[in-house]
Parts: sequence; structure tokens; C-alpha cells
Amino acid sequence: MSEGNQMVESPKIDVRVFRLTPEMDEPKYEAFEVPKLPKMTVLDALEYITEEIGRDIAYRSSCGIAHCGQCAVSVNGERVLACLHMIEEDKITIEPLPNFPIIRDLVVDFDRRRNETQKHLHLIRNKDMEQFPEKIDPTQMEKVIDFSQCIECQICQGVCPIIPGYMEWPGPSHFSWVSRFNTDPRDGGKNNRLNNIGNELWYCSNCNSCVNDCPWEIPIRDGINELRSQVIETGFLPKALQDSLESTLTSGSPYQGARKKRNQWISAGEEKAFSDSKKTLYFVGCTSSYDTRAQEIPKALVKIFDKANIEIGILDDEETCCGGPIKNIGEIGLFEMLKDENIKKFNDYGVENIVTHCPHSFNTFKKDYLEGEGDYKIYHH
Ligand code: SF4
Ligand code: SF4
Ligand code: FES
Repeated sequence: MSEGNQMVESPKIDVRVFRLTPEMDEPKYEAFEVPKLPKMTVLDALEYITEEIGRDIAYRSSCGIAHCGQCAVSVNGERVLACLHMIEEDKITIEPLPNFPIIRDLVVDFDRRRNETQKHLHLIRNKDMEQFPEKIDPTQMEKVIDFSQCIECQICQGVCPIIPGYMEWPGPSHFSWVSRFNTDPRDGGKNNRLNNIGNELWYCSNCNSCVNDCPWEIPIRDGINELRSQVIETGFLPKALQDSLESTLTSGSPYQGARKKRNQWISAGEEKAFSDSKKTLYFVGCTSSYDTRAQEIPKALVKIFDKANIEIGILDDEETCCGGPIKNIGEIGLFEMLKDENIKKFNDYGVENIVTHCPHSFNTFKKDYLEGEGDYKIYHH
């Protein structure tokens, strides 16, 4: 480009592309220089490399408008749709979507995953309706519509941390589709699908990465938890989970430990029982109360509180599970019971601040205990 007599260099992007063909022994990265244009997408860069530079890179695309779900790749480690992701950086590395076998360059093999999903869904199954056309609750249909937005791009599969350790796991894209059908009030195949899923639902750690990266923000994690609730309703619960729920109901913790052993990590003479004069509650949580390795955390934290002259109290054997894991299992009734019990206890003791080192308790108190139900602030350590 020239400006007066001076040549002005147009900005460029350094694009590194992952290459692997059946003829190659191992993958390599090939570097290209691509002119940087306003609102340029990753797909634009790939098209420039193939059409203008003339390199035969294999990648998928079709619609160009985030609808066909073909173009998912990894860009600088982030899972994105190539047609949607604008290039802001001066250097990018484009790689195939992780957690799938690579066919060639950026093209991965979706077939096994998609075939498996199709095999188990069988579309909507008619159920005997009391009247036809059916009466449908609009709020229920909103959920169906949410899940129907799925474009099967498989980004959620590419980001899920469970899959690298368990490649055969059906994963979030499968559960998103099961949720689409199992939330549909017209469907009569719910139990059949739950039977097909078996114990697979319980592998999800509820990390929410799939939702964060889904281009259509499909509430996959909520769907998985709703499916878990449906499993609980049918009574097909694995024995270990049944025991944990039973233990939470009877002794306030899924760890199946006696309630009076909840403060066993405290040395004799160093008790920190909560009292009316104290305002800050240290909520220890179930894992650190019963798991001997995790007990090192409250021991160390209490020393830090002492050094910092922060007066804290604990609830000893009155502490009850925050309910976070119970909600994630899908036992919403038990979760609500634990929540009410805890809020009442915090209010009765006049707790003003709650400190917890447990990320699950922190998240549960902060997000799932409704604001305004208790007059206290929640802090992480
Ligand atoms: S749920 Fe979202 S990320 Fe997963 S396949 Fe569907 S659209 Fe893609
Ligand atoms: S919430 Fe569950 S399905 Fe989604 S990424 Fe995390 S572990 Fe995977
Ligand atoms: S090309 Fe269709 S979603 Fe990207």
C-alpha cells in the first residue's frame, strides 16, 4: 500500500497451523503470514491460506454463520468456531479440536460420537396424551428450545476434562441431546434413555467448562443435573450414591462418618466452638472434617487465624453439609432441607461472617443460598 511516495506495510498475522496427514510420521506446525483485516475470523485466515497462498490444509466449514457446527478448532488453546472467532492477536496457533481422533490436519473424527448419540435417542417417542393436540407448559418448552439450539459442534466435548481420561464417555454433547428429549413434555421415552445412560451421568464433575465454551450457551450442566434428578426419581441410583445420600440425611455428611467425629482434626485443648461473642464462623466442610489428608488444611488455617488475631468459631458436630454435592447429584429435596437447616443455624447463632476454604461450600453459599435469607457475608480464605 502506498501513501504519497511512502510504502505503508499492511498489518500481518503470524498463523501457525497444525499439520498431520496419513503420510506423516508425526505432526508438525506450518507458519503463514496472513494480511490482518478488520473483523477477520479464523475461517477467513484459513481460506486465505488455502485460496491465496495455495496450501492444501484440511479443515471443515460450511455455513460461515455459526449454524452448521462444522468448523470447531482450537485457537491459542481456546475451543472456538472458526467462523465466529475474530482474530485480535498478531500471532495465532490453530489446532484440531482436542479429545477426538485426528483424520487430517484440522479435521477430526466426529462419527463415533454422533453415531452413538443417534443410536440412543430414537427421536421423540409418543406417549399417551389425555388430549390432542397436547397442552404444553410454555416454561417447559423454553427448556426444550434451549437444548434444541445445539449445533453439534462438539466444542463441549473438546473442553470437557473428563474425556481425556475416559475417551468412551458419552460426554456433554450427548447429554445435551438427551436433555433436549427428556425435558420435552410430549416425549414418552424418558426412562428408556435413562436406562441407556446407566451410570455414565455420575462422571460429570459439574465444572461448567462445557457451558462456558458452548457458542450457544446451552445449559448442559443444568441438563445433566436435571437428568440426575430424573434418575433419582426412577430409583436407579448406584449403591455408593445411595449410601452417601442416606448418610447425609442421617448424619449431615456424605462421608458416612459419625457426626460427633466431625471435629476430630482439632487437637485436645484447642477447641474453637462458636459462641454468641464470636461473629466469624469458619465453615470447615465435609471433606476436611473426615478425610485425614484434607484435615491438614483446617489445622493450618486455624494457626493462620490465630497469628492474624482473627477470632473464629466452628460449629463442631453441629456443622452440616452445605448441600453443594447433593444438589449436583440431583437430590434437590435433600439440598433444600440442608440449606434451610444451615441458614437457620447461622441466623440462630448470629453469624455475621462465614469463612470457608472449601470451594464447593463457598460456591454453594454464594450462589445457591438465596441472598437475603441470612444476614452474613461469605469469604474464601
Ligand atoms: S452443546 Fe454447545 S458446545 Fe456442545 S455440541 Fe451443542 S452447541 Fe456445541
Ligand atoms: S460440567 Fe461435566 S460435562 Fe461439562 S465440562 Fe465439566 S465435567 Fe464435562
Ligand atoms: S462454518 Fe458453520 S458453524 Fe462455522
